[in-house]
Amino acid sequence: MTQPTATAAPREERRKGFPHDRYMESAGIPIHRGYYIEDLRTVEVGWWQARECHAAFIQLNGLEGVSEVRVTEIPPGATLPPHRLPVDEAVYVLQGRGLTTVWQEGSSLKKSFEWQPRSMFMVPRGFSHQFSNTTGDRPVRLMHFNYLPIVMSAVLDIQQYTPPRNEALLTTELYAEAKAVVDEYAFGGQRHYWYGNFFPDMAAWDKLDAQPERGAGGNVVFVQFAGSEMSCHMSTFPSRTYKKAHRHGPGRAIVIPGGTGYSILWEEGKEKVVVPWHEGSLFTPPNKWFHQHFNVGAIPARYLAMHPLPQFSGHAEKVEDRARDQIEYPDEDPWIREKFAVELAKTGITSLVPDQAYRDRDYQWAYMGGKG
Ligand SMILES: [Fe+2]
Repeated sequence: MTQPTATAAPREERRKGFPHDRYMESAGIPIHRGYYIEDLRTVEVGWWQARECHAAFIQLNGLEGVSEVRVTEIPPGATLPPHRLPVDEAVYVLQGRGLTTVWQEGSSLKKSFEWQPRSMFMVPRGFSHQFSNTTGDRPVRLMHFNYLPIVMSAVLDIQQYTPPRNEALLTTELYAEAKAVVDEYAFGGQRHYWYGNFFPDMAAWDKLDAQPERGAGGNVVFVQFAGSEMSCHMSTFPSRTYKKAHRHGPGRAIVIPGGTGYSILWEEGKEKVVVPWHEGSLFTPPNKWFHQHFNVGAIPARYLAMHPLPQFSGHAEKVEDRARDQIEYPDEDPWIREKFAVELAKTGITSLVPDQAYRDRDYQWAYMGGKG
């Protein structure tokens, strides 16, 4: 019987972090840490010789060892060298316009599609791909999200692995028009899941379901990438409102397609961290930290949450009381409401969260479109 090759790092190396941490260090590009990045469009990038591009890793608290986030910059008019990953990768366009070409070695099928700010697409594992900036005056910035940290711990030589040809994607699903399917929802009832690999503008999306469990008259759309375990959701909620605090597992990367506001992150009983956001901001709620989103702008705010693998959903509902993972308005720290009033007052506006929502646990919000 053949034994697996032992390529694990020595014990002292393992103490320094996960294989993915050592991989990031070896790339020689900036690794940004903390709770949030206020603007991914301007965060510092550095030259990555192996990929022949400018890039940076974003290793926020709560992403470590679970999900990888990086930013790539493409100069005006430039095309990056072809690349192939052993894992699926979601890409969100932070800035600029361009083109992605995707193909699989040994197949004549080659697909190209154009994107713009706030487009989102997935590059499937094993497919070669190439990114171009099709404008002559402005750099492109892309945000990438994948599960490489998990895979690199489980399969130490994953970088040398090329997945087998994915016949299903080659024949029917590769960048076909996204389809809506109805699915069971964790909070009960049914939800639309959008199934596809290319979504032209996440800021213009208006086919949303109501999201009554989180309050604030908010809406949501769930996306399942075709042929992948990777998924995400995008929430919108009205100006001058805020959502209920909740918590779950690590590995989510939340990027803002539009709106102005802030989020508060805290571990139960500990100090609160305030995260300001606007288009291009990124933050990650650390594992089992409560987080709560506040819209202080004049328009509905949107946040796009890239999900970790389902193993990391981290909800307690299967073994405990789901209510322990969400704080209803009547139960929240009064400071939350006071801070919201102070932030709104800076632009001369006031909260639209009705008094009754702070008294009535079953308060029914009005929802824009969708189903309640
Ligand atoms: Fe969350």
